[in-house]
Amino acid sequence: MNREDFPMLKEKYIYFNNAATSFKPIEVINEINDYYTKYNSNINRGIDSLSYYSTNKYEEVRNKVANFINANNNEIVFTRGTTDSINLLAYFLEDIINENDEIIISIIEHHSNFVPWQKLCKRKKAKLIVLDVEKNGTISPSLLKNNINTNTKIVALNHVSNTMGATNNIKELSNIIHKYNALFIVDGAQAISNIKIDVKDLEVDFYAFSGHKMYGPTGIGILYGKKQLLDNMEPISYGGEMIDSVSIDNTTYKDTPYKFEAGTMMISSVLGLGKAIDYINKIGIINMHNYVVNLRKYLIKQLQNIYNINIYNEQNEDSSIVLFNINNIHSHDIGSLLDKYNIIVRAGHHCCEPFMKYLKVDSTVRISLSFYNTKEEIDKLIEILMKAGDYINELF
Ligand SMILES: Cc1ncc(COP(=O)(O)O)c(C=O)c1O
Repeated sequence: MNREDFPMLKEKYIYFNNAATSFKPIEVINEINDYYTKYNSNINRGIDSLSYYSTNKYEEVRNKVANFINANNNEIVFTRGTTDSINLLAYFLEDIINENDEIIISIIEHHSNFVPWQKLCKRKKAKLIVLDVEKNGTISPSLLKNNINTNTKIVALNHVSNTMGATNNIKELSNIIHKYNALFIVDGAQAISNIKIDVKDLEVDFYAFSGHKMYGPTGIGILYGKKQLLDNMEPISYGGEMIDSVSIDNTTYKDTPYKFEAGTMMISSVLGLGKAIDYINKIGIINMHNYVVNLRKYLIKQLQNIYNINIYNEQNEDSSIVLFNINNIHSHDIGSLLDKYNIIVRAGHHCCEPFMKYLKVDSTVRISLSFYNTKEEIDKLIEILMKAGDYINELF
């Protein structure tokens, strides 16, 4: 554990909201600073040495991302984040959807993997099929088998849920989906900082994630897509740098992935992401994961001492997330109380309103751990939660 690498950990907070966004190590912050102070320039736009330097650095990050998830570098499209990646796809793939076709998602999807497909179905008069989930929050392959058919064109599911922390068996789901020649799109926002991702082994068609949840900056995300699929898709944003040639009558595009990156991109965020990947590789994602899983065991054990607590995902031992409510205390009150002690958790519907309804609650408290959290921080949290009822009576 390397707490000194993270400037935010020198501040007064105990931070348990890592599934929302992680803190950034100093290497990432310095990289962004260096770009603006030492070689600020646009990429691909000049034959000058400055532009050449920043273009090379930018493209090096594409290689790093590709290696990180075992893809080819021409299969990596830079976007603004997971939400952006999935929304873009819902437009890129519009042409393959016709009236009465079907798109499958699940009830536990984050809104960003729910609403784009709901909207696409409305635009094209297609049918949205929403799968229920198992008690632990996973998607059952047999339920998928019962719902998929030759009308199914797209299946879009999470790899790891941001509420239950459950990990789906992507490979097994993928085998079923491809038997029906449907496309498999995976929301990897919560998986990318917790498990080793190999898109080839998982056999997915598209995989989306965000830099800011993996110790990188905000404003940068990835859309991985199989080369052949990306080649066949039409861009939806046109302008500088994505074109091959423009005449009055016609425009041709650059090859994949450049045709999807129109205009000036978020260069500093891309560079920061490169350092975040170096950082994860230095510590080792498996080491990070093992540490978090052990810490979660401790957290669960301590939480069990809280009177009237209802933990929804105790069984998901491999996860970094704990989701709970304390009977008769609203999750927002717990969140506000902890905030008074500078302990940051997430309280609310976690951008998963359909799933909250499915759980028959309007909101929950979520603790999401990272490898820089400690047992001492958990002890402090438990100390406050033990007295939550008394404190809240005093406050209101
Ligand atoms: C499972 C999941 N999908 C998608 C998103 C959206 O990510 P972003 O806001 O970085 O686009 C999140 C963010 O919390 C998430 O947890």
